Amino acid sequence: MMKTTHKHYILNAANMAAVADCSINLVVTSPPYPMIDMWDEIFCHQDGRIEKALKKPDGTLAFELMHKVLDRVWKEVFRVLSPGGFACINIGDATRTLGDNFALYPNHARILTAAQALGFTALPCILWRKQTNAPNKFMGSGMLPAGAYVTLEHEYILILRKGGKREFTSPAAKKNRRQSALFWEERNQWFSDIWMDLKGTRQAMGKQTNRNRSGAFPFELAYRLINMYSVKQDLVLDPFLGTGTTMLAAMAAGRNSAGYEIDPSLLENFYDKCHDSPGHFSSVIQQRIYLHNEFVRQRLEAGKPIKHENTHYGFPVVTRQEKELVFSIPVSVEQQSDQSMVVNYEIPSRETAHTVTAPPNTPAVPRTSGAKSRTDGLLFPDFDPGP
Ligand SMILES: C[S@@+](CC[C@H](N)C(=O)[O-])C[C@H]1O[C@@H](n2cnc3c(N)ncnc32)[C@H](O)[C@@H]1O
Repeated sequence: MMKTTHKHYILNAANMAAVADCSINLVVTSPPYPMIDMWDEIFCHQDGRIEKALKKPDGTLAFELMHKVLDRVWKEVFRVLSPGGFACINIGDATRTLGDNFALYPNHARILTAAQALGFTALPCILWRKQTNAPNKFMGSGMLPAGAYVTLEHEYILILRKGGKREFTSPAAKKNRRQSALFWEERNQWFSDIWMDLKGTRQAMGKQTNRNRSGAFPFELAYRLINMYSVKQDLVLDPFLGTGTTMLAAMAAGRNSAGYEIDPSLLENFYDKCHDSPGHFSSVIQQRIYLHNEFVRQRLEAGKPIKHENTHYGFPVVTRQEKELVFSIPVSVEQQSDQSMVVNYEIPSRETAHTVTAPPNTPAVPRTSGAKSRTDGLLFPDFDPGP
């Protein structure tokens, strides 16, 4: 039976001493955002000069000092990543008025520059459209030119790689890679550069204070990235673990994980949350299978043949690369210590894959008439692992 291990450390990620050099296959993370005021306190704790710069006010200096705090973590990320390993960093730019001066603070550009200086290769990034319906979202002079500002409604997912392409050399590694494949129609949606369909997280949090402070990203953001940039049994790290979304997504995807978080309150009851999650994890996979079956049905109805068959489940697949794709469903979570959990998996049977029904909240699959993209909706719009 497949197992994965998940460890979290309540420590500053500027020193990830428990993580060996070149031991991590993928980093999925979202740091505190410089110049967004909800994160001021956490930055000021890590460098006293930041508070003075904000009070002065000197936005340029505060921005740079906050990024210097993050640079220490990016250095560690580079050290622990294995050659060919990826770092996916979710970050938004900030706008802020200091004194009389309203300005943009381009966080994504500053992180890219720092990452390239460390030796990372920058790859095409994803824009995640994060719509806001706040009534005061338009800023500036309203209908009167020329003093209004464009509303920022997107964030970035920076995609960085350490060194050249990852090699899969042994027969076992190649097989595991084939078993970790995505569906063709998922590839078409997930590898597009703009994700319109991810909403801010709905994760229920134990305490209101935590919810205000968490800045959690949607489960699906982490789940997609993990499936896109790692294979089963890999080790995924989140140095800014927050409420543990990356760790939950790693569990659902059959990857091992590790995480660092400086604020212990965010991970209170984390084991209970994981322990109660296998039902949700299972519906994530059920939904992928269900949507694939729907895609196949529509494609065949549209008179488009599907040449290949998945060897494990017997359903049609568009490409040869999907033939060995096999899902691992988490069935139980065991606590090993205060910081460590083991997840046990089983493989859904051929019969289950054929009879799977749509879990609650599955989006309607629009008729594709053979179009490339299966759906503009979320795969798991309401996935919520609970408090
Ligand atoms: C944007 S939040 C991450 C949210 C997370 N992706 C989630 O889904 O819950 C950033 C997190 O980084 C933590 N943090 C800030 N500085 C840190 C540091 N130096 N080391 C470890 N964690 C840190 C904050 O406490 C916060 O929880």
